[in-house]
Amino acid sequence: MLPRPLIIDCDPGVDDAIALLLAFASPDEFDLLGITTVAGNVPLALTQANARRLCHLAQRTDVPVYAGCPRPLLRPLITAEDIHGSTGLEGVVLPEPTMALQAQHAVAFLMEQCMTAMAPITIAALGPLTNLAVALIQCPAMAKGIDQVVIMGGALGLGNITPAAEFNFYVDPHAAKVVVDAGLPLTILGLDVTHQVVTTAERLAALETLGTPLGQTVAALLRHYGQDDVERHGLAGPPLHDPCVIAYLLCPDLFTGRPMHVDIETEGTLCLGRTVANARPTETLPANAMVIETADAEGVYALLTERLGKL
Ligand code: BDR
Ligand code: CA
Repeated sequence: MLPRPLIIDCDPGVDDAIALLLAFASPDEFDLLGITTVAGNVPLALTQANARRLCHLAQRTDVPVYAGCPRPLLRPLITAEDIHGSTGLEGVVLPEPTMALQAQHAVAFLMEQCMTAMAPITIAALGPLTNLAVALIQCPAMAKGIDQVVIMGGALGLGNITPAAEFNFYVDPHAAKVVVDAGLPLTILGLDVTHQVVTTAERLAALETLGTPLGQTVAALLRHYGQDDVERHGLAGPPLHDPCVIAYLLCPDLFTGRPMHVDIETEGTLCLGRTVANARPTETLPANAMVIETADAEGVYALLTERLGKL
């Protein structure tokens, strides 16, 4: 099988960083066309620089990095330094990137790639969906070049930024609605599934004992990450949200889900950004996404550890 053409849209961010490293470590499966960055966990100046820092760390400076939208479509930017630290990569200090940021805007890159793709492209969306929404608004025809969009976002149950909403969908609910309404082949991994994939002491130890610089970096990131999530949600360790998207693309058999009709609340105050999913799609509200509900957490960590051992 030829490697799958992939663009990762992200806001690194600790868990985005681990997702990028997992993708870098899978060159047989992914032809990584580029990384597009957006404002989210930290402002855009940091997310794009962090993406380049990670390319250096993994010796993947062949992967171009693009900066996208500096704020959500309509709302002011909300960031998550409480979870990811003021740099976005709390727990490690990575050198200033010497690799250049691409001059092209991330939205222009997304449109151009999808319009000229020889083989349909997979988009892994790991942050607020602003870049993809702007691209789809500007160039709806780009859909023809998209194989599928796999999103980390939303929650069927409790949210993590408000009781009703998950961070990525809450930060830019209007963009999330544009994307779920676009008629694309969508897969959504929300908190219901990512909260099953938590970093226990044993899983952290397995990463540490890799003894490689990357294993050490990921272990250092995970030692500092997500304690708030652990306390707030009563988890057994910090959840690996964004790497679940890459793990799903590598090994879909580790996950199960159901087709649902998904919509996003964009008007309410209490429920802004809420994922409203109907597991019994109707003729008027047909399924528009595969919503992932379960993950084999042991399998996801085994995959991550095995792949990072190769980098
Ligand atoms: C999502 O929000 C961000 O903080 C993480 O990077 C992840 O994409 C989880 O709600
Ligand atoms: Ca993210």
